[in-house]
Amino acid sequence: MTGGPGWSNYHTHTHHCDGRGEPHEYAESALRKGMPRLGFTGHNVVPFPTNWTMPAERLASYLQEIRSTRERYRGRLEIFLGMEADFIPGVTSPVAPRIRELGLDFVLGSVHFVGPVDGDHAWTVDGPAEDLETAIREGFGGSARRLVERYYRLVTMMAQTAAPHIVGHFDIVKKNNRDGRHFREDEPWYRAAVGHALETVRDSGSVLEINTGGVVRNTSGSFYPSPWILQEAHRMRIPVIISADAHHPDHIDGKFEEAAALLRGVGYREQRQLSSKGWIDIAL
Ligand SMILES: [Fe+2]
Repeated sequence: MTGGPGWSNYHTHTHHCDGRGEPHEYAESALRKGMPRLGFTGHNVVPFPTNWTMPAERLASYLQEIRSTRERYRGRLEIFLGMEADFIPGVTSPVAPRIRELGLDFVLGSVHFVGPVDGDHAWTVDGPAEDLETAIREGFGGSARRLVERYYRLVTMMAQTAAPHIVGHFDIVKKNNRDGRHFREDEPWYRAAVGHALETVRDSGSVLEINTGGVVRNTSGSFYPSPWILQEAHRMRIPVIISADAHHPDHIDGKFEEAAALLRGVGYREQRQLSSKGWIDIAL
């Protein structure tokens, strides 16, 4: 048994985007680990090249393979078809017609891009460290603060306009900020940006993800979001969900116990999960 009874993972990337493994390999892993449910969230298609979003030509097979895996495991494992949908103003959103028409069970909304989107590229906050430095220099006048404030404005806009079922890796803008090289989380402007975005997540009714991927893959060395943000989220009574951001079948429960301990430490007693009966709360 992985973690507590009923704990499942709803942030899962297959080979259709930047993960490794077939849907059935993730399903077998879930069964081995005693998970009753599993949610898939391929990165949505974006209209410019990246090396991690889903190529347009793979979208149909992603949808078809997750649906057929859902049928194959019916009665043994509940499978949910989702998408990790980007929010890029004027380009795409978790509620864009192209996402809505897919007939998904749920949508995990994420901000990865802080602009510009010119058809060639878009700056990401969670790519290589040099990319972030380029974005700060070329797009934000050398000010990391301006980039970070832009990031949280986008999270705020996403919550207000799209209210995704789950808000993914809320503070992933810190991924390339190990050792506080660009900003410090205790600076008043940072706390204000986070606080405002968090209030809009609360008002949207979305579930806040605690994402263990940065620790499992050792990309940032910490969970998203930081413990102090979870403390604020608990004070605001925002529901939470633990997810692995799995890119390999073995990782679908990575660091779940540690994440749960952190949540319990700030006062949470339950996490929210999607079931065939809708969203339910499960003891931590
Ligand atoms: Fe993501």
